[in-house]
Amino acid sequence: AHLAPQAGELAGRHVVITAGPTREPLDPVRYLTNRSSGRMGYALAAACVAAGARVTLVTGPTDLPVPDRVEAVPVETADDMHAAVFARVEQADVFIAAAAVADYRPARRETHKIKKDEAGSNVELVRNRDILAEVAAARPRPFVVGFAAETRDLETQARAKRIAKGADMLAGNLVGVDRGFDQPDNALYVCWEGGDCHLPQAPKTRLAEQLAQLISQRLSDAQT
Ligand code: CTP
Ligand code: CA
Repeated sequence: AHLAPQAGELAGRHVVITAGPTREPLDPVRYLTNRSSGRMGYALAAACVAAGARVTLVTGPTDLPVPDRVEAVPVETADDMHAAVFARVEQADVFIAAAAVADYRPARRETHKIKKDEAGSNVELVRNRDILAEVAAARPRPFVVGFAAETRDLETQARAKRIAKGADMLAGNLVGVDRGFDQPDNALYVCWEGGDCHLPQAPKTRLAEQLAQLISQRLSDAQT
């Protein structure tokens, strides 16, 4: 099969991608975060550019260089990411949520450093908004692709999560010790309405090309 994207397959398309972790501050020197290198989202940005798309990368803090010809929008918190996405996604053809968004943030953000003798051992948390689910619920909306990192029951969890989020496509991967995070390689299970496939262990750059290919196929299927 020819799973590498042909040049121009996403020509004329605008793709908005989230990547990396978010940071949810407790005070000026502390934050809660998720484990995420940002590699998958950055690789997807490069693959979509290679396929001819205009790409906007809404990115939490990572150590990665911004790929050529990608417009990066740096953000810190899930709230910032939500605002940056909604300011751009209405005109987009594709939205890919590759970020590891913090599900909760501290209820209060102290202006001064919390001292250990003043603070209790409990931190009150409030839920962050679900960017992927909200983009999927918007009308009109782009073709929506989500990710899921799971530690077990990958196929079942991924299929259920796609439907729960209202996404058109969902890519799941197993995470655990030595798997998924901060690794150049990964394997993906991809599902959509009426189909699925396994993308075997490969460099994230290669998986990103294959995913861009699947997205462009589903996008043209949806429009014919
Ligand atoms: N996501 C998002 N906004 C959030 C949380 C998650 O956009 N506030 C997106 C992620 O970028 C990813 C997908 O939703 O594409 C799935 O994230 P995941 O954490 O696996 O899903 P949750 O619904 O948060 O479920 P869980 O309880 O397993 O964390
Ligand atoms: Ca989550």
